[in-house]
Amino acid sequence: MMARDRGEDRPAVPRRFRRKVGTVAAGVAAVAVYLIGMQAAGALTPPQVNNRWAWSLPPGMPQPRVPADNPMTRGKVAIGHRLFYDVRLSGNETQSCSTCHQPQLAFTDGKTTSVGSTGETLPRNSPSIVDSAYRTTLTWANPALTSLESQMDVPLFATHPVELGVNDRNKGAILNRLRKDPWYAKRFPRVFPTAKHPVSWTNVIRSIASFERSIVSANSKYDRYLQGKAELSAEERRGMDLFMGEEGECHHCHGSFLFDDQDTYVGSPEERPKFHNTGLYNVGETGEYPYPNRGLYEISGKAKDMGAFRAPSLRNVVRTAPYMHDGSVATLKEVVENYAAGGRVITEGPYAGDGRKNPHKDPLISGIHLSERDEEDLVAFLTTLTEPDFSKISRFADPFKHGKNAARGNDE
Ligand code: HEC
Ligand code: HEC
Repeated sequence: MMARDRGEDRPAVPRRFRRKVGTVAAGVAAVAVYLIGMQAAGALTPPQVNNRWAWSLPPGMPQPRVPADNPMTRGKVAIGHRLFYDVRLSGNETQSCSTCHQPQLAFTDGKTTSVGSTGETLPRNSPSIVDSAYRTTLTWANPALTSLESQMDVPLFATHPVELGVNDRNKGAILNRLRKDPWYAKRFPRVFPTAKHPVSWTNVIRSIASFERSIVSANSKYDRYLQGKAELSAEERRGMDLFMGEEGECHHCHGSFLFDDQDTYVGSPEERPKFHNTGLYNVGETGEYPYPNRGLYEISGKAKDMGAFRAPSLRNVVRTAPYMHDGSVATLKEVVENYAAGGRVITEGPYAGDGRKNPHKDPLISGIHLSERDEEDLVAFLTTLTEPDFSKISRFADPFKHGKNAARGNDE
């Protein structure tokens, strides 16, 4: 599944989007190339014909890849937008995707780890789905999940633990709930004109994935700074220099246009997705992470993959607390302190151990000298990556504003 073709048939695309910015000057230069590149990407954008989708991408954002069997259309995005917020999609009508991916929290849920519709606790912290169109692999550590369509099997149908709780017993009944809604009844047949049964799980999944792909955003203070439209304070600049420089090392794993290191887009180079152990745990000094959160190891069973997780995007990171795969770090200040120490030391309880000495730790997490002020500056820089509140942008916000019943009759 990871062995894809090397992309010979694709145009050779400069590595500009994966730039490893060593200095601020290099960063600004890279951005200039980047903006020129965008004009080329613009030329690939299909014209807005009928229902065809036209990307309106912010400057600096490449064109997302879209699966051949699920092209973007405005109709699918509209249906997916509503389904994403629709609690009728869960077995007991208590949860929707947005329960755990809330727009005002950059589509996370603010919990340490999420809780499913039947009350079961999930092992992981809910990640942001902003810009998820660009992720090479989805979720915290699963190289097999490479499309938004396939990822959705988890929240919809998972049984250990249950998320939305769709199962063989209620599958048909849930689709009937949707068929009875005049809004869906009118749109599904129009948007899927050749389908014998337009309201199907396949089409539900295709629509929600299309909506997720449409959530592309790059409108933070930092983006405006790159475009010459905003100034960074002295503190934020110092934080940026630390982040981008060899002292902080952050950019090695958070150096892309999304501040992560796993991105795919039209023309991107094919790369093996990376996962890293950042020394968060070292249970009983064995190198172990707590089950079932042992990262890539849960899938590969290889010792070297113990504790290896995907570096998450740091866009909107002030809104996505608590942090890390298990939400075990409460604040950005603590995240930075752990990096400064070269790992986290847990002194008591079942997970006690010195993460700094985890044998599987990525060598880049070696401890960095940061003064109190450096740490504050880094946090100030991370704060510049905050976008406008997504719950205030109508094409992303909850369409059921006045409650489920109002929305059922609402015909836009
Ligand atoms: C009960 C809470 C919950 C619900 C409901 C839920 N999710 Fe999630 N979602 C999570 C958690 C937790 C993860 C991380 C899982 C992991 O890493 O193992 C996640 C991961 C994701 C990801 C991967 C994001 C990334 O950056 O890799 C996507 C996409 C996603 N969910 C979409 C959805 C969609 C679409 C729905 C509705 C069909 C949904 N989720 C419903 C909690 C939830
Ligand atoms: C070797 C790669 C690597 C380096 C270097 C690195 N990170 Fe990370 N970062 C990760 C990984 C992997 C995670 C997730 C780890 C986990 O959940 O166990 C992460 C998580 C984070 C998070 C939490 C984000 C969230 O949504 O939970 C923040 C904030 C962060 N890193 C900031 C930084 C900063 C600041 C630096 C530089 C001081 C840095 N990182 C250096 C790989 C790296």
